[in-house]
Amino acid sequence: MSLRRRMVLAFAYVVVLVTVVLGIPLLASVSGRVDAEVRADASGQAHLIAATASGLLGDRPALRASLRSTAADIGGRVIVVDARGVLVADSAGPRLEGDAYGDRPEIAAALRDGRAVQDTRSSDTLGEDILVTAVPLVDGGRRVGVVRVTQSTEAVRAEARRDQLALGAIAGLALTLGLVVAWLLAGSLARPLTRLAEAARRVAGGDLTVRVQEEGSAEQREVAHAFNDMTGRLNASLNAQREFVANASHQLRTPLTGLRLRVEAASLRAQDPALRRDLEQAEAEADRLGRLLSGLLTLAREGEERPPLRAPTDLADLAEEAAERWGPAAGARGTAVVADGRGRPVVRAPAEELDIVVDNLVENALVYAPEHSVIRVGWEVRGTTGVLTVADEGPGLSPDDAARVFERFARGSAGQGTPGTGLGLAIVRTLARRWDGDATLENGPDGGALATVTLPLHDAPRQALHRDGRDLDGSLPGGA
Ligand SMILES: Nc1ncnc2c1ncn2[C@@H]1O[C@H](COP(=O)(O)OP(=O)(O)OP(=O)(O)O)[C@@H](O)[C@H]1O
Ligand SMILES: [Mg+2]
Repeated sequence: MSLRRRMVLAFAYVVVLVTVVLGIPLLASVSGRVDAEVRADASGQAHLIAATASGLLGDRPALRASLRSTAADIGGRVIVVDARGVLVADSAGPRLEGDAYGDRPEIAAALRDGRAVQDTRSSDTLGEDILVTAVPLVDGGRRVGVVRVTQSTEAVRAEARRDQLALGAIAGLALTLGLVVAWLLAGSLARPLTRLAEAARRVAGGDLTVRVQEEGSAEQREVAHAFNDMTGRLNASLNAQREFVANASHQLRTPLTGLRLRVEAASLRAQDPALRRDLEQAEAEADRLGRLLSGLLTLAREGEERPPLRAPTDLADLAEEAAERWGPAAGARGTAVVADGRGRPVVRAPAEELDIVVDNLVENALVYAPEHSVIRVGWEVRGTTGVLTVADEGPGLSPDDAARVFERFARGSAGQGTPGTGLGLAIVRTLARRWDGDATLENGPDGGALATVTLPLHDAPRQALHRDGRDLDGSLPGGA
């Protein structure tokens, strides 16, 4: 689960907990409080009318108006009855005036005992539960009547429900706000971590120049700082190693060339055939060592900033020249090297480096495919990439080989019986990737191995100059 989701959940848990712990007792108390408030209000109003009504008994319209305004205030009905229980004034209008109300229990009790009565009972007239408040009217020490206030208990309950709903809405709002704040906070916490992970992935992919922004909390800034520090040191140490390998390889090449020349001279002078054979083998070993040093030099340059491209390369020309170059060596084994492709892919990579690529691939085909076979060097355009292929009729790759032949010093099953350093394909891939391309080796559709190198096409192939200065326009399809 993501950090963001965890934090939102934790926040939600806290907010819900607080809401439940505080809200439920509050909700429960609300209905009781509303009920008590309504009762107290009804009683207060009834007393107030009782205090003024006795003076208004002679002025019915004024009394009715006073009852109406109180009834509207408290949301109920207010009546005044005289000492016999006959309705004198009614907030609902004069229609029922003169009716006998003495049988109503609260009115009877107030008249009998001379004290205020408050009760809930069901009303036969209205067919629902009502809250009744009856207060005796006293004038000069005499009981002259009763003021009665009636309210529907359903209305009281509805008011309590409204309050409860309002409380629920506030709790919901608090929860939503809490979650939004948690979401934003979690985002600000997670963002530096996501950036750090992205940077770590780029470092793992070989880019040691990445640095992360030191942002966020003190702890996050510390981690970012430590990461930058570590990557910087790693970069410096890798550069030092690379430089060392490059220098060592370079320095070793001069004495090696001297050694090779001396062995060659000695083998030419040797009279003894056995000695001559030994010296020729020593020469071959020196050659191998020379190739190894060149390979190490190339690989040591991996990760260095690539030089600016002086001219793009036409893969068709490159393949044809390679076929010509390798013709004699292949012919000695009865093998043919055929250049055969489609279109004219002009790619964004220097010919010197692509020559090394194609040479390594053709050399492998020659070494690992049987004598008297055919090696095809092909090319084509696929979308925005140029493709160079080398196909042979050899044993191809075992599944085990396919996974590791591009590793440095890795030799596959076909390579077991032949001398080799295991650097050829590593160099091919390094050079292809240096120019934003890639290299693969797989089994061809008709057996044998199929090496494929893909490289981005040069943006403006029509204006491009080939490596030996020829204007490509002449050689392009539809070119001038
Ligand atoms: N055309 C091919 N057919 C079959 N196997 C191949 C082919 N090309 C490469 N391989 C396998 O891949 C391995 C690695 O090849 P790579 O060119 O990297 O090194 P190498 O040929 O062994 O040595 P060198 O560094 O001298 O080229 C080889 O040992 C071989 O097993
Ligand atoms: Mg090889």
